[in-house]
Amino acid sequence: MPEIFHPFASFGLQYRMPMRFEADVFECEVVGEIPEVLRNGAYYRTGGDRLYPTLEEDIILNGDGLVSMFKFEDGHVSFRSRYVETERMKAEKAAKRRLYGKYRNKYTDDESVSNLPQRDNTGNTYAFEHHGELFMLREDSRPYRVDPETLETLGIGQFGGRFGDLRSTALTAHPKIDPKTGEWWSYGVFAGGEPTTDASLHVFGADGELVREQWFQTPYPGLCHDWGVTREHVVLPIMPLVADEARLRAGGDYYEYDPDLPSKWGVMPRDGDPATDMRWFDIPGIVMGHVMNAYSEGDKVIIDTPCSPGNCFSFFKDKHGNQPAMPETITQITRITFDLSKPDSEAVTMEPVNGALGDMPKIDDRYAMQKYRTGYFALRDFPQMGVGQIDWERGTIKVHELENAASQEPVFVPRTPDAPEGDGYILTVIDRMDERRVDLLILDGNDVSREPIATVKLPFALPMSFHGCWVQA
Ligand SMILES: [Fe+2]
Repeated sequence: MPEIFHPFASFGLQYRMPMRFEADVFECEVVGEIPEVLRNGAYYRTGGDRLYPTLEEDIILNGDGLVSMFKFEDGHVSFRSRYVETERMKAEKAAKRRLYGKYRNKYTDDESVSNLPQRDNTGNTYAFEHHGELFMLREDSRPYRVDPETLETLGIGQFGGRFGDLRSTALTAHPKIDPKTGEWWSYGVFAGGEPTTDASLHVFGADGELVREQWFQTPYPGLCHDWGVTREHVVLPIMPLVADEARLRAGGDYYEYDPDLPSKWGVMPRDGDPATDMRWFDIPGIVMGHVMNAYSEGDKVIIDTPCSPGNCFSFFKDKHGNQPAMPETITQITRITFDLSKPDSEAVTMEPVNGALGDMPKIDDRYAMQKYRTGYFALRDFPQMGVGQIDWERGTIKVHELENAASQEPVFVPRTPDAPEGDGYILTVIDRMDERRVDLLILDGNDVSREPIATVKLPFALPMSFHGCWVQA
């Protein structure tokens, strides 16, 4: 039986105040000069917000999707934010209160909405453009499509092809776009909707048509938020945060961290069958969420990822009911190499990068799936926050240091289509906590430590967004 639903009485105790409004700012204040390539286009982001008070221990991954757009027209910048008008939000607006309980736990919902489909499809994770359409991805669902001009929600994307429709109900919020073919590489864990080991690998062509889907089993029903695709291989990491139907029925959390389980890393040839060709490696004692990039060199498969010595998904407790201690949640960008010519026990090496503490890694996407030199990330070297840049050739980092502020995800835009790697600009939203507002910084992609090239100011704070993209006009 569902619990009786008691929404948390106030937003006041939340770390970040929810936005709870949709905004249009018609002419943003801009300091500096907008670079030529950014004069016409749009920067889209999505994240979790809360339209209504939630259950007390609600986590931001359960937030209502709020899309924001910085639109650049002839160097003038306007801002727009709109909620993704999900099935769930429509039901809550009609009831004028919160109806949905915990993150991915339908057994904690108000009885009036129990078992409605699309319960978890909040569109809150990645504003992602492909074949001219703008999607709001969410890893357990099929994404909503949003109008790129108005941000009006258009409905849930349909994914089919000549060989039939996609069977997986889940599409990762971390797709990989092949810069050579334009293909959209994707997977779903819990691909049938329930917390099982069912998983699907699927690929869409540059036109959005489904060209491949293969189902397989993961070693355990663990968290898999991001992955790696190289020109020759696929790398699928399963983290020891495990979902369990019995715990959900008892009103518990979706994931529980098991420190006694090793993380599992499936590596296979890119054109292989994951059901039979995946070689699963154990890496005990680490947890990761995101991937910067991955590439292959002969028998070696390299994946660069911020990983932590313990549970960096700190809003989920461990199997003993404990929240992780701060040191075990700190992520450091680490190069993990799988040498496929060696036996399992000798195949894996890990090289953390000195000083590269943080997350939200991004690259010059023209260099996805191949050997690359430059990566960017949100530096979180408490209390120093900023934007970090890695030079993999030299093994060094540069930092754009921020005072009383923190960076969200840094997105790279090349200066011209054929500019060298890293020759371009970083777009990143900066939280100015003491001023309760944000700036959008435009930094030099060749050297983020320099002064911002331009700053777009907003007169209010934004909730944390997760991931976004630049779309050229
Ligand atoms: Fe993510």
